[in-house]
Amino acid sequence: MTKPPTDLAEELRAQVKDRTAYLGVIDRLNKASVDKHWEAYADIPWDDPDFQVDKNDPRWILPPVDRLGETEWYRSQPPEIQAQIGLFRVATAMKIGLQFENLLKRGLLNYAYRLPNGRPEFRYVYHETTEECHHGMMFQEFVNRSTLPIRGMPRALSAIAQITPLIPLINTELFFVFVLGGEDPIDYVQRKTLKGGHIKHPLEETIMRIHIAEEARHISFARHYLKHRVPGMPRLRRRILGLATPAILGVMARIMLSPPGPMVRHFNIPADVVREAYKSEAAQDEIRASVGKIRDLMAELGVVTPVNRRIWQAFGIWDEPRGKKAAAAA
Ligand SMILES: [Fe+2]
Ligand SMILES: [Fe+2]
Repeated sequence: MTKPPTDLAEELRAQVKDRTAYLGVIDRLNKASVDKHWEAYADIPWDDPDFQVDKNDPRWILPPVDRLGETEWYRSQPPEIQAQIGLFRVATAMKIGLQFENLLKRGLLNYAYRLPNGRPEFRYVYHETTEECHHGMMFQEFVNRSTLPIRGMPRALSAIAQITPLIPLINTELFFVFVLGGEDPIDYVQRKTLKGGHIKHPLEETIMRIHIAEEARHISFARHYLKHRVPGMPRLRRRILGLATPAILGVMARIMLSPPGPMVRHFNIPADVVREAYKSEAAQDEIRASVGKIRDLMAELGVVTPVNRRIWQAFGIWDEPRGKKAAAAA
């Protein structure tokens, strides 16, 4: 198996100045999808003895730098419970991830369904859908092997989320904001965890590396699509995009980074421990940081206005765009 690289996003984050450059990006992404892709049941050694999932394995124990892992309550639990909580959290993130990607795939297919012949986006969207199918399979296989009672999104949210595959029929740009709203926070957390060297289990590491490598392409496509399309959007659609974006991002980042309710109930985690770990200022800063890239992009595209900035602030995800911050510091 080829080792998935993690710096692909950087390589592909070229500025799109005109349509030729945009088409060039799609070409490179298409080629990269053909050259480097991973299959859930061909490239992951599920049967390797070292890759087996045992819920009591100490390798699942959260590191002391983790916000839940550092609490007094967590450290005083028996090692098996600490391990099970660690695994519960990883598996829940995968379950929510696969549900989000299920919605995403349906939306991508709705978008592709209506594309006229000859449109370059068609092929890339099919590559992306294929990759997401493998992500869904590897995530679900991991969840099954955890043998824990993992649930995904809260039921009410899951019901509302069923409308998202229909967004591309009304506003494709808004759909790609939804795509980034799910992919960016996951990518942020995965890169941070991997970089911090906190992943001890080889199965989790392999899944994460594959995911980061392929998501870099998906994120790159969504960003370039928005850069290419938003400047030419009619004013009203653009205004709708500006109002809906912070609401979508605020909800998505919270789902991705909040404590799973079933985990709290399953292990009877006291409310004050949950508050200490997830409602602290550091936790709120992390949510804000996880949407930083897309917030900067929206500001760069002129979508952020004084009116919709209040919505960003209300969801606790506003921060000055990077460019402005650098200028202020200079
Ligand atoms: Fe994915
Ligand atoms: Fe993706």
